[in-house]
Amino acid sequence: MPKPKVLVTRAWPEAVEARLKANYDVTLNPEDVIHSASDLRAAAGEYDAILPTVTDRLGADVIQPGGRLRFIGNCGVGYSHIDVAAAKAAGIVVSNTPDVLSDCTADIAMTLLLMVARRAGEGERFLRAGLWEGWRPGQLIGRKVSGATIGIVGFGRIGQAMAARARHGFGMKVLVQNRSPIAPEVLAAYGARQVASLDELLPEVDFLSLHCPGGAANRHLIDARRLALMRPDAFLINTARGEVVDEAALAEALAAGRLAGAGLDVYEEEPKVTAALMGMENAALLPHLGSATRETRDAMGHRAVDNLDAFFAGREPPDRVA
Ligand code: DGY
Repeated sequence: MPKPKVLVTRAWPEAVEARLKANYDVTLNPEDVIHSASDLRAAAGEYDAILPTVTDRLGADVIQPGGRLRFIGNCGVGYSHIDVAAAKAAGIVVSNTPDVLSDCTADIAMTLLLMVARRAGEGERFLRAGLWEGWRPGQLIGRKVSGATIGIVGFGRIGQAMAARARHGFGMKVLVQNRSPIAPEVLAAYGARQVASLDELLPEVDFLSLHCPGGAANRHLIDARRLALMRPDAFLINTARGEVVDEAALAEALAAGRLAGAGLDVYEEEPKVTAALMGMENAALLPHLGSATRETRDAMGHRAVDNLDAFFAGREPPDRVA
């Protein structure tokens, strides 16, 4: 039997690529060049499986019935870049890589929270520019994080990892908003309280941290109206997906002093970051680093391949999402 033909769209960790080479007729991408939509369309006709990442848009124009493609094993937990309905209609199975990146993503959310609250990016820029003339009582005064109130939107694995850090690391009061009710014992583990709606949560928090999925359902969940419900001394942290926040409305709120600051790891049109945000001292901006540790990237790659192996062995992929 010929080995399944697999396309890996980006350069992956060495050990994961070695595992793929041993078991599949695999095409790797050592130059790490982003595939165009037409490359991906052609690949759907030529490969049994594609292992994409967030940088590959697999829309209905790419995923079409009648091609050779049978499996999409996304390397990443978020999969709003894949048209799952089109995949289902074409009989293509889709999987993702949950769990393994929860800790590191929550670490980056907490990094951003601390950066904006304590003005760490600003302070570093100030020092490197040679402007520091020594300690003074009024210099770069930020906000105290310990004991403050955090609102967590989306209480899945990453939201809970953030709650653990906030509660047990910083003694924060944790409020949660989630589509479905969270079990009392889960909330109790973080001393958390679930509020009925996002609108109810917003005026209550010093920090709002987003951990919900992206995609059409949550596009601009945080828009101008909701930003106006937040306190002017509050901060917004987004490590979920760029589309969850109306970036233009956010920049306006920051510029007008209607929000104290924002920490962003994701953007509406990655890798484009708007000039308005770029120019803002009270925005901490990272280049989508949530899962970017050696340990987590290895684990994500292996988890994607576990799903691929299961699929071609005729088993149910453990992280099947469609
Ligand atoms: C994820 O896993 O969703 C990361 O954002 C990378 O795609």
